[in-house]
Amino acid sequence: MRTSRRAFLRCASASVAMLPWSGRAFASGHAQRFEQPLPIPPILAGRVLDGVRTFELAAGRGESRFVDGLVTQTIGFNGAYLGPTLRCRTGESVRIHVKNGLQEQIAVHWHGLHVPARMDGGPHQAIAPGATWSPEFEIRQRGALYWYHAHTMHRTGSQVLRGLAGLLLVEDEENAARGLPAEYGVDDIPLVLQDRRFREDGSFEYISSMHDVMMGYRGDVLLVNGAVRPVLELKRQRTRLRILNGSNARTYTLGRDDGRDLTVIGSDGGLLQAPVTLKLVRLAPGERVELVVDAEEDRQVRLMSFPDITARGFGGMMGMGPDADVFPILQMRSGKLEKANAPLPGRLSSIKGWRTEDSTATRRFTLDMGMMGGMMGRRGMGRGMMGGMGINGLPMDMGRIDVKVPADNIEIWEIANRSPMHHPFHVHNVQFQILDRNGRPPAPVEQGLKDTVVVEAGSLVRIIASFGSYVDAHHPYMYHCHILEHEDAGMMGQFVVV
Ligand code: C2O
Ligand code: CU
Ligand code: CU
Repeated sequence: MRTSRRAFLRCASASVAMLPWSGRAFASGHAQRFEQPLPIPPILAGRVLDGVRTFELAAGRGESRFVDGLVTQTIGFNGAYLGPTLRCRTGESVRIHVKNGLQEQIAVHWHGLHVPARMDGGPHQAIAPGATWSPEFEIRQRGALYWYHAHTMHRTGSQVLRGLAGLLLVEDEENAARGLPAEYGVDDIPLVLQDRRFREDGSFEYISSMHDVMMGYRGDVLLVNGAVRPVLELKRQRTRLRILNGSNARTYTLGRDDGRDLTVIGSDGGLLQAPVTLKLVRLAPGERVELVVDAEEDRQVRLMSFPDITARGFGGMMGMGPDADVFPILQMRSGKLEKANAPLPGRLSSIKGWRTEDSTATRRFTLDMGMMGGMMGRRGMGRGMMGGMGINGLPMDMGRIDVKVPADNIEIWEIANRSPMHHPFHVHNVQFQILDRNGRPPAPVEQGLKDTVVVEAGSLVRIIASFGSYVDAHHPYMYHCHILEHEDAGMMGQFVVV
């Protein structure tokens, strides 16, 4: 029993030279069985009251069985672990009653949505135990997979780890018009990827050393929608996989075990202009990617994670970062298949982006890890101020506004990473476009709308976005590293739109 749950992520021999898609890398070490059917988070359509689509979310405690029949104390929304998928449409008004049934303070953020800052669910919108918070806003987003998750000051990592996260599925005309698979849980499948460590008694092990803070928390068991080694029975010729990296810190490099191409149709903020085919796609914490899988009858294929060859370790070599493991994510199995209705359109969407000439301001954000001095120095290891982490030399301070953005500004933000590891940088309230990485345009798969971008070690990424017109001088939005241990340790700042 023990070996079965230890072996998931182990593959010490993973190395860059291994041509991960050759199909040999995992032949020996990854013969574990996949038997659990993939659970699909329940979908909520809410109730329309006076024209407002209204949802109820209640955070509470529960018990989950993830590994070897062990019981894990978890928290979730409307259930033991994670939450329901909230479904709504572009242009609708929604109201979400978030009840905190826990004994600790929470905050619940709508990741990827453009909403007034008071409704954003950052650390300033804390919900006391027993209280209910009822934000209301209009969905001004393109159709895409967004998500909601805990965002409590210094507690985000711990609360997301224990289960406070869920999906937000926004639908729109464009998606409907493309004839893409759209039956939730049948041919439109959400996948939430999260890695976890367990103690012998079944409880989650969270931060156990400074290493977990500095590198971010990594687990040795992968949960997909809360299940270990799940199987998805494909029922149709074509399936849409909408994948969220809901992990605290791990980056996945997705690929197929049979060496075939992935077909990517969407990123954080919705459909790409055109499908992109490639062998591997990197997915950092907070990011989403949408794939289309065209299956053949009577086949099995595995979605895998391969080494992140773009990562550096603290030793500074490419491919030697903390995400070098090779492991299977999901087994897909097909028997007889219902025919797909149409060929995949060559053109999916048109994204009207922004040109550098349109921008009215350029700002620079430098991500700091403070390194060794910071580990012991500064304010020490207490009170979540760890590792000397910050942005532009300052750790997060809820009482300090770092940036004032004039309403409707189109701005270029330059994100500089001087540290020896990558950081997925996330900006609230906007969907941005990546202008360039070290002066070079991003790969096609990164040319769609994004709300989170990997800033590789030692690199400079420029993004451009329009900040919209939700003016509020008193309620800030956040920008931060989406490695939750880094966020909690201070790699976060605040901006207001004025
Ligand atoms: Cu997904 Cu500020 O968070
Ligand atoms: Cu966010
Ligand atoms: Cu970081």
